[in-house]
Amino acid sequence: MTSSTSDAHILMSMTYVSRANPDVSAKDFNEILQQAQANNAANGITGMLTFNKDYFLQTVEGPRAQINRLLYALIADQRHHDLQVIETRELKHRKWAKWSMNYASPTESNAAIYLKYSTTVDFNPYLLSAESALDLMTELSAQRA
Ligand SMILES: Cc1cc2nc3c(=O)[nH]c(=O)nc-3n(C[C@H](O)[C@H](O)[C@H](O)COP(=O)(O)O)c2cc1C
Repeated sequence: MTSSTSDAHILMSMTYVSRANPDVSAKDFNEILQQAQANNAANGITGMLTFNKDYFLQTVEGPRAQINRLLYALIADQRHHDLQVIETRELKHRKWAKWSMNYASPTESNAAIYLKYSTTVDFNPYLLSAESALDLMTELSAQRA
């Protein structure tokens, strides 16, 4: 599929949640991140990924055609399942412009941020509204900056 020029200039973001497959290891998480960063740098995509051993929550932003192409790849990716898009929006400008893929996973130093947005002790992004999911990622990112 070739990208049509008509929507190449329209920026959009997409936020989704998914469940990590049980056999996904710490090494796989690193590979996912590296693959995301390398591909995104080439495809004009930026964003933020947060994960624990069970779940992913990711925002990707970029040209609309590229974001849709990535969505198909993500749905086909055997390292996770049950992908649910929780928000899409058109953007005037990027929120994560500095990062081909920023990331965070729960640690002692950010535990309070996860807890702030959770009803459960463990991070479960399926229980977050889109607004809370974006606020959570914003706070996690601010702590890393
Ligand atoms: C949780 C998760 C997040 C991912 N994020 C990205 C991403 O931001 N960009 C990307 O290109 N691929 C991402 N991938 C990988 C894609 O699903 C897919 O494997 C990859 O885009 C295929 O790249 P290739 O055509 O270079 O092999 C992610 C995979 C998972 C499981």
